[in-house]
Amino acid sequence: MKLVLIGAPAAGKGTQAARLVKHYGIAHISTGDMLREEVAKGTEFGNQAKSIMAAGGLVSDELIIAIVQERIKKDDCAKGFILDGFPRTVVQAEKLEEMVKLDKVVYINAPDEVMLERLTARQTCPKCGATYNKMFLPSKVEGICDVCGEKLTQRKDDTVEAGQKRIQTFHEQSEPLVGFYEKEGILFEVDGTMPIDEITKAIIAGLDA
Ligand code: AP5
Repeated sequence: MKLVLIGAPAAGKGTQAARLVKHYGIAHISTGDMLREEVAKGTEFGNQAKSIMAAGGLVSDELIIAIVQERIKKDDCAKGFILDGFPRTVVQAEKLEEMVKLDKVVYINAPDEVMLERLTARQTCPKCGATYNKMFLPSKVEGICDVCGEKLTQRKDDTVEAGQKRIQTFHEQSEPLVGFYEKEGILFEVDGTMPIDEITKAIIAGLDA
């Protein structure tokens, strides 16, 4: 199964991807996570991406396409994968079409104010990558990861200012993908304002239909 998850910042792509990969036994490819790893390692590419990401812009199509092209060749993608955060532009989507035939594209749709509220309350674990939310999905012990006990942190781009810019970038550069995949007949839209479990159920029902 080859899937793409589209949605604005904090629509719930990463949250749903983590559940869907367990359900379907496929690989999770998050371009945001891959970029944050490069930034943390201080690679040349990471250093180039750092300020763009912090400001809420997009890194260049050319670089991200090259990264995804290599990633989907890895063994863990043999049974399929979920692309979370790629494609984000029509150029990326056209290139992806040349690489693979997608089964479905899931669009998690929610209003801007919901996404801004979620992203400013998000907490992430720098060690195991688990995601929490101070308002909607708190850890059992405040500020500590339930899974590995590490101190939770806030992403640098999860401020109101960067969040607003990321949402604007989504509307300008990524929202056209909804029409792109609708035309292809593979778009499945889900209401991203529902509780997390309900969204997972709706996506699985839509994919298995
Ligand atoms: P990326 O990491 O992909 O960020 P994003 O798209 O902004 O998405 P987020 O990770 O913020 O949100 P999400 O939809 O995964 O939501 P989550 O499940 O965490 O990319 C970061 C940056 O990298 C980009 O800005 C760009 O610069 C660069 N980049 C990445 N890919 C690129 C590409 N292809 N091309 C160019 N540049 C690229 O949920 C958010 C919060 O809400 C969590 O706290 C969660 O617990 C909570 N939550 C989730 N669902 C619900 C719900 N239903 N109800 C209540 N709370 C919920």
